[in-house]
Amino acid sequence: MRVPMIAGNWKMNTTVGEAVGLVNEMRSRLDKIDNVDKVICPPFISLAAVGELIKGSSIKLGAQNIYFEERGAYTGEISPLMLADLCQFVIIGHSERRQYFNETGDIINKKIQAVLRVGLKPILCIGERLEENEAGRTEEVITEQLNLSLAGIDSLGGLIIAYEPVWAIGTGKAATGKQANNTIGFIRQTISQKYGKRIAQDLRILYGGSVTADNIAEFINQPEIDGALVGGASLKATEFLSIVKQTSEIKGCLSREA
Ligand code: PGA
Repeated sequence: MRVPMIAGNWKMNTTVGEAVGLVNEMRSRLDKIDNVDKVICPPFISLAAVGELIKGSSIKLGAQNIYFEERGAYTGEISPLMLADLCQFVIIGHSERRQYFNETGDIINKKIQAVLRVGLKPILCIGERLEENEAGRTEEVITEQLNLSLAGIDSLGGLIIAYEPVWAIGTGKAATGKQANNTIGFIRQTISQKYGKRIAQDLRILYGGSVTADNIAEFINQPEIDGALVGGASLKATEFLSIVKQTSEIKGCLSREA
């Protein structure tokens, strides 16, 4: 059985003070929700402070980006070595990084390799743009993104994939549960062809894009969807708690039925 996961991507929001406030608001309630991996991904500058606050709890920490070199003259960058003892997960290849920071498949591939090398778990984001979706090219785009991102990687470590259709991110226009389930099923099938059935069955694949407390159930009820990468709604303690709680309850029921 795959353990479901809800990861909150705070993006470029919260000062250190605000990050601490948000964690304090939800820490004890979040800690108590079981059967689901709870990951929060604040900005780099808040990782240490948040890490201290959640120490000893069941809440896990992730970063939103990384540079692929270990050290050196790369002004302003953060290396895998620096993150290795601060957090467990790193979001890689988010569509905002592809769009605004020109991240290519090759860069994403190097970042994944760098993250795996230090024992961190990448959360690899893939997804098609609106015009690609409308042209019926979703599977083609996904296949290409997977091929480029995972080129030369023999062992996926604890890699997690987040399927995030670009047209659904921050737009309030989420995919339907069925649409997301179909594409995620296709991703699993592609991984199965590359890495074998067993690896594909164990791989956690999340949905992301305008997930809220009101629509999470629609996604979590789908058999291929193992959780969500949540942006905007992860900045509101009550809403994030509700998303995590519903995930725990629904997946708990589904696994008892299975
Ligand atoms: P959103 O963002 O939930 O605000 O749409 C999701 C993401 O970018 O991971």
